Amino acid sequence: MGEVSVPGDKSISHRALILAALAEGRSRIIRPNLGDDVRSTARALEQLGVRCEIASHKAQVEVEGGGWERLSEPDDVIDLGNSGTSMRVLLGLCAGIEGSVVLTGDSSLRRRPMLRVAAPLRQMGARVDGRRHGDLAPLTIRGGALSGVDVRLQVASAQVKTALLLAGLSAGGSTRVEEPTRSRDHTERMLRALGVDVRVDDSSVTVRGGSSPRTFDVVIPGDMSSAMFLVAAAAIVPGSDLTLVDVGVNPTRTAALGVLESMGAAISWGETSSSLGEPVGSIHVAQSPLRGIRVPPELVPSLIDDIPALAIVASQAEGETTFSGAAELRVKESDRITALVTNLKQLGVDAEELPDGLVVRGPGEIAGGEVDSFGDHRIALSFAVAGLIAGSRVRVKGWSCVDTSFPEFLDVLGEVTASR
Ligand code: S3P
Repeated sequence: MGEVSVPGDKSISHRALILAALAEGRSRIIRPNLGDDVRSTARALEQLGVRCEIASHKAQVEVEGGGWERLSEPDDVIDLGNSGTSMRVLLGLCAGIEGSVVLTGDSSLRRRPMLRVAAPLRQMGARVDGRRHGDLAPLTIRGGALSGVDVRLQVASAQVKTALLLAGLSAGGSTRVEEPTRSRDHTERMLRALGVDVRVDDSSVTVRGGSSPRTFDVVIPGDMSSAMFLVAAAAIVPGSDLTLVDVGVNPTRTAALGVLESMGAAISWGETSSSLGEPVGSIHVAQSPLRGIRVPPELVPSLIDDIPALAIVASQAEGETTFSGAAELRVKESDRITALVTNLKQLGVDAEELPDGLVVRGPGEIAGGEVDSFGDHRIALSFAVAGLIAGSRVRVKGWSCVDTSFPEFLDVLGEVTASR
């Protein structure tokens, strides 16, 4: 029986850095995710005038925040690499800064839709320009005096919600963001824990302009979406029995665990403590017979990042597993619907694309072979999990993209398999 921890939560790490930048004084972020995406946010904040000292050996970042006044026009383009969260969320921050900021990224990020953030920020008074009327990076944002807005998002998105709430902190009046279904709520929890006036009801979040977070020390909980790759492995590798400790178990992130439970997985999880308003706990999972299910579309926003790992589990479940209402998968780091189905078929699994999801039929043997990461960390990690039960070696082309979120994956996997 193994017990492991996973790297710090990527979503919470981005937010912790930005909120620390807005607080006046020194904050300490302990055990952050130090993958490429979060490093992109830290570098961007440096370019905007905030000192972020990364001490990788201590797994810690210290941020010297100075509120909105400290943030200033950078003297160069900000390159956010592969990180969609950095780009969307920082657009919200930059909307509150006097001056012009240019944000760009790698070829994948330059293809991802940004108008969903740019349009409401324009409504607040920011100017955003870019290709396709401001939908595609490189984007230039000119911020300054903003007014609060009341926005109804067409698609639930924690990144867009966060961008608007950050912009709302610098705006006059209140900013209210309503979503069709609730996306992950880290921003609202953290803002509240840091003394900001935030109101939350069933479908919306409201912040009042002019309030800023206090400084803080925080231990970042383990990333549920990284944990999912190990959970998926333990659910399908014969004889597995695994406990993951210090994982963030925020209910807006645990829907995938519920799906596994409905598929018959021997799984349990619970909260043992909390950190800056975020529940932290452990997950226990053992291999057991699984059955296919229809994943309820209304759960999709709470498990969107976990569908690649769930698709691998589905290949070992009896019958059909259907994911629908997940068109957003097509505009993640890769088109994850095409990437998953192409790779599953490549390994001999019966899988089919839907316009807004996929169907996987099991249980089937996974053959060895070569698959493509499509430059997407979650695709690479999923097929490493598939490799654990494959008849022969699975080679993942473009593996280095795992550095985005989980550079230490193979070490952690080694720990798990050594303790079996
Ligand atoms: C994230 C929100 C999710 C998720 C992404 C990280 C965040 O996207 O897929 O990996 O940190 O806010 P949405 O903005 O589509 O909810």
